[in-house]
Amino acid sequence: MIKKAVIPAAGFGTRFLPATKAQPKEMLPIIDTPTIQYVVQECVDSGIEDILIISGKGKRSIEDHFDRNIELESHIQEQDEALYNQLRHIENMANIHFIRQKELNGLGDAIYHARFHCGNEPFAVLLGDTVVESVIPATQQLIDAYEQYHQSVIAVEEVPWDRVSRYGIVGGKHLDNRIIQLTELVEKPEREKAPSNLAIAGRYILTPQIFAALEKTERGKNNEIQLTDALIILLKQENIVASTFEGKRYDIGNKLEFLKTTVEFALKRKEFALPFEAFLRQTIKNIDSSRPK
Ligand code: G1P
Repeated sequence: MIKKAVIPAAGFGTRFLPATKAQPKEMLPIIDTPTIQYVVQECVDSGIEDILIISGKGKRSIEDHFDRNIELESHIQEQDEALYNQLRHIENMANIHFIRQKELNGLGDAIYHARFHCGNEPFAVLLGDTVVESVIPATQQLIDAYEQYHQSVIAVEEVPWDRVSRYGIVGGKHLDNRIIQLTELVEKPEREKAPSNLAIAGRYILTPQIFAALEKTERGKNNEIQLTDALIILLKQENIVASTFEGKRYDIGNKLEFLKTTVEFALKRKEFALPFEAFLRQTIKNIDSSRPK
């Protein structure tokens, strides 16, 4: 049983400046919901209710978001019962704990901060710059694979070859059409050195042995302690599988993808779908008609 999850959320969010100068990137909303709330919801939908958020400087609004705001609630309660219930839902989603990463030494170092929280149990890791829409939550799909293989499980997704250098990339042997027994991992390789185009997709189930591996991990890409490098050490001691997953991954770590995600999510929202679609159609018409013939 996987009962705990870790969500690293300490990074600067430099790819979203200036919006992230004074607010955490995890609080940037897709329509009206902060991205980290989607990620916490995925944990909850996967049966995880004990979540450790690795936070840092300037991230206090994440704590406030999952806390009660009694003044606001009593104000809203009289005006809008549904919204009131939504607010109450947020603060009751899960047991959320926070620990601060004092220096930004990379994803591996962030995860290392979870060692006392996770103890000797396997746990899930969800990176906040990825939101997955799927019938079965992505983390649940990994938990299912963990229960079958009893090995760390890394979610992977095929990416175009010209983008492999943006991701951790894995190589190995297919056990079935979803599961790959890993023989190789490499963080952000050049295209020529990538063992495949299967990219680490921001969701992991890790055995607690990762913490000993992290202790031995030296600074790698970008002079940071990389989780992928710790997994390379772990792979020398125990087997690791990668798993593809059913669902659509939204890589919201950059502005263009964030924009596309917002559009797709808006088209799926009942109250916006029709007027927003009409707006998009009209906008495209205007673009087409202003194009020189
Ligand atoms: C991190 C991981 C990388 C993974 C990626 C997924 O990189 O180090 O292995 O593929 O997340 O989003 P980052 O995007 O933080 O540079």
